[in-house]
Amino acid sequence: MEIPVPEAMFIKPEDITFEISFSFPVLVKPNFGDSSFGITKRSVANTPEELMNAISEIREKFGYDKPILVEEFLSGKDLSVGIIGNPSGSYMVLPIIEEDYSCLPPELPRVCGYEAKWLPDSPYWNLKSVPANLSEDTERFIVECCLKLFERLECRDYCRFDWRCDGEGNPKLLEVNPNPGWCWDGHLAKMAKIFGLSYAEMLKAILEAVESRVGIRIEGDL
Ligand SMILES: Nc1ncnc2c1ncn2[C@@H]1O[C@H](COP(=O)(O)OP(=O)(O)O)[C@@H](O)[C@H]1O
Ligand SMILES: [Mg+2]
Repeated sequence: MEIPVPEAMFIKPEDITFEISFSFPVLVKPNFGDSSFGITKRSVANTPEELMNAISEIREKFGYDKPILVEEFLSGKDLSVGIIGNPSGSYMVLPIIEEDYSCLPPELPRVCGYEAKWLPDSPYWNLKSVPANLSEDTERFIVECCLKLFERLECRDYCRFDWRCDGEGNPKLLEVNPNPGWCWDGHLAKMAKIFGLSYAEMLKAILEAVESRVGIRIEGDL
């Protein structure tokens, strides 16, 4: 589909030696999962030794039978794109947001992982999502890719796409979230707020997308 993705290597459970065709730093993560389980500051490896430690940590925590992804570490803007609706009908692309890492001590790697999502005592907890400052061309390219992916992966009603730029500013797709969290303080609600939608209005927009796709009317007020 000509969607750019980071250089990556897939490690099967039985693999004990690896050859990486791209350079350090790399990011190590479980191939399956969500909510950043298994993605921490130790997932960023600068040396073969750190890489082996990160792989062992994931295997010990999540099981030796699970595959692992090693990816080129993308050091640029950490982006997320929310779409509500269905591109085959009517839809809205919410403002793209970016993680603001400025509050983080310089020695900590820039990742929005487990610590940022689950550990209130961690310095990562203070990361903020702010409107992304992208060139018009980059933004148009990312949104076109997201719309193509939405259709191709048969997403429905709402979806969130995570991207990150490399050191040269080239955006690459990290993942598609076909059922992203819609809690009040989540990424989707933050984008909706920047767009001018209250939390209730965001939920209503999702429900209306369902209604028009299925051709029914949901009774009641939010
Ligand atoms: N290849 C990568 N390079 C740099 N950072 C990454 C990379 N993969 C993941 N990350 C960081 O980890 C975060 C979570 O990764 P992601 O793949 O979106 O999984 P999930 O959100 O399901 O936990 C990203 O938002 C980003 O900060
Ligand atoms: Mg993500």
